Amino acid sequence: MQSFFGPDFIRNPYPIYDVIRQHGPVYKGPDGRWLVTGYNEANTILRARHFGVKHVWSAEDLQQLKDSAFAITEALMFLHLDPPDHTRLRALVSKAFTPKRVAELQPAILQIVQQLLDDIQAKHRLSERSFDFIQEFAFPLPIIVIAELLGVPVEDRGQFRQWSRDIVRVENAVRFAPSVDQIPPESLAEANQVAHDMRSYFRHLASLRREQPQDDLISAMVKAEESAGTLSEDEFLSACIIMIVAGHETTMNLLGNGIFALLNTPEQLALLKEHPEITASAIEEFLRFNSPVQMTLRVAKSATTLGTADIHVGDELIILLGAANHDPERFPQPDQLNIQRDNIQPLSFGAGMHYCIGAPLARLEGQLAFPELLKQLPDLAFAAGVVPDELAWNENFALHGLKTLPLQFS
Ligand code: HEM
Repeated sequence: MQSFFGPDFIRNPYPIYDVIRQHGPVYKGPDGRWLVTGYNEANTILRARHFGVKHVWSAEDLQQLKDSAFAITEALMFLHLDPPDHTRLRALVSKAFTPKRVAELQPAILQIVQQLLDDIQAKHRLSERSFDFIQEFAFPLPIIVIAELLGVPVEDRGQFRQWSRDIVRVENAVRFAPSVDQIPPESLAEANQVAHDMRSYFRHLASLRREQPQDDLISAMVKAEESAGTLSEDEFLSACIIMIVAGHETTMNLLGNGIFALLNTPEQLALLKEHPEITASAIEEFLRFNSPVQMTLRVAKSATTLGTADIHVGDELIILLGAANHDPERFPQPDQLNIQRDNIQPLSFGAGMHYCIGAPLARLEGQLAFPELLKQLPDLAFAAGVVPDELAWNENFALHGLKTLPLQFS
């Protein structure tokens, strides 16, 4: 496994997918886990009821971590749960997080995009006109939007931004440790502190909204919780926090990977500038071409055969979404960016019962951000001295995005 998932994978996973693909679309890797690279196979597994999610912690882990606010928060996130708990908790959020609520955010999102672009221009106009696209645009946009969606008051947004930064950092250190015993104690302490602070904050915000509902997601979730009446406080708090954990870095990577792909493909950049009306299709192609989430895990709940693969109960499968999106059987010339590609339907938001609940919001952010970016900063380019292939990527196998992206405008 080590041979597939190392520093080269972090930089550019696609050549590695091509190597894995040579063994077939569902291949038992060196550590015994199945590696799924085929589009149809990935789609089938994600939609099949006899594959469950992999729980974040085992029962023994949870026993060991029973006083950890972080472990409790993560364990109860519905992304990590199977039915019936998944169904119950997802229903709570989907009742509140409606297409109408997303559509109503449009003016606010556009204003946030314009404000960020104004700030970038004001800050760097007099200097060399270069800025870090990730830190100054792709990172703040989704978190401000999530704060707006949830109904976090403006005065709390600085703190909210900090928690969001911290939770992702500590999640990497804690969740991906090889065993509970190997979690660095200082990382666990920090994770617990962040989780504790966020939980206290949402507990307080929910109590305010219970007394005086507003037109925001927390109020709508409180209402849905009251009518469902089957939710513990821990579950409610996890449902709030998952919106940040699942919605932030992912959307940041869509923006970063999208603009990076465009700058590397000047004729596609020119095409999009000339035809902003094809932005919706361009977003699907960005999602396909360099997927913000590269993989997810499933566990077989019953024995099954997929092509020539005999899968046993308890087997783990790594669904390589990024590989499925580059399956040459499904996408002609998969390694080429083509924003006019037909019938894209990438697996970047997953499929089946765990299909991303925030997909309409992420798409809307992209559809507002890209045209505005290309309009306000029409000569956007890599900053002087940047060698695109040498830029650093976040050291995370699942979430694929650039650490920094220095750009310049004229
Ligand atoms: C481009 C941005 C995004 C990408 C690529 C993305 C990707 C994904 C993927 C692949 C899954 C399914 C994982 C699996 O099946 O194991 C998922 C689930 C989820 N996403 Fe997103 N996501 C994005 C944005 C968002 C946003 C903006 C939010 C909320 C504000 C969000 C909230 C969620 C939640 C709550 C789930 C769990 C759904 C469930 O388990 O039923 N995501 N996302």
